[in-house]
Amino acid sequence: MARAHQPVLYHDIILALHPKSGGRYVDGTLGAGGHAAGILAASSPDGLLLGLDVDPQALELARQKLASFGERACLVRASYTTLSEQLAALAWPAVDGILFDLGASSMAFDTPERGFSFQADGPLDMRFDPTNPLTAAELVNSLPEAELADLIYRYGEEKAARRIAQAIVRARPVSGTQALAEVIARATGGKRGHIHPATRTFQALRIAVNQELEAIETVLPQAVQALEPGGRLAVIAFHSLEDRIVKEFYRKESRDCLCPPRQPVCTCGHKASIREVTRHPIQPAAEEIQQNPRARSAKLRIAEKLPVTSNRLSVK
Ligand SMILES: C[S@@+](CC[C@H](N)C(=O)[O-])C[C@H]1O[C@@H](n2cnc3c(N)ncnc32)[C@H](O)[C@@H]1O
Repeated sequence: MARAHQPVLYHDIILALHPKSGGRYVDGTLGAGGHAAGILAASSPDGLLLGLDVDPQALELARQKLASFGERACLVRASYTTLSEQLAALAWPAVDGILFDLGASSMAFDTPERGFSFQADGPLDMRFDPTNPLTAAELVNSLPEAELADLIYRYGEEKAARRIAQAIVRARPVSGTQALAEVIARATGGKRGHIHPATRTFQALRIAVNQELEAIETVLPQAVQALEPGGRLAVIAFHSLEDRIVKEFYRKESRDCLCPPRQPVCTCGHKASIREVTRHPIQPAAEEIQQNPRARSAKLRIAEKLPVTSNRLSVK
């Protein structure tokens, strides 16, 4: 049985959002409810929290964990990409803090039947949302070789993507996580350093199955728009692709003008909507990584909504 860890960067999240009584908060990636419990405890006695997750298993765990907070916690099975809609349904015009702790939960990683890991054998699933019609098996066994190679290269930043895609296509049908990991290990000549050769391909498949990058791009403008002035947005990313999206969004939305550098007069009219609280991301201390090795790649970026909001934010 896997050990339960404190959520990644727990204290930094509570410090960043500084929850207060009477405040309204969103945890867009509820998971087992660890961060949400911290936000609710810190905003006692009457802070409110909207928690979202697409995974019914996670939602059930969170429900049990947050039961003692009663109606202060409103938990909804929905994608965070529907944030604006969820807030409108609650008639919450604005909130004081929003958290996204991206990726799969430890619970999902540690459940072989979910297919996220090759440490134990499982089906090639990798869906956060079990009603999503696309599974990893579909991509692995049906995509044309060139498309599979592109996917592995783009979402896994895997240099050996062509070789891996060719080996997968030759080995079709590939039916489980360990069979896939073995095909990849053979194609790449075994272990390179500390990282298993299948790690990047598994990341690529998971990102594609769950459309993770599109989801982040869709929700960030909604999150900024939903914040009260002074409200905070905290995002924990676990790989460079998602961290880059957050970083570039923060950089862009914290600038007053986006015209080319040599242009003498601003013609774009873009106004900063946030201030970057963390110019450099916060990363877990060595002690946290020792207790929870999965925390090692976590990067937390925090932004604060400015008093005057740009009306140019394009909400997808
Ligand atoms: C790293 S876990 C969050 C852990 C959580 N912070 C805790 O304290 O337990 C990420 C969660 O986000 C969920 N998730 C991923 N994509 C989502 C989306 N588009 N909308 C809502 N939840 C999503 C996953 O199902 C997973 O449970």
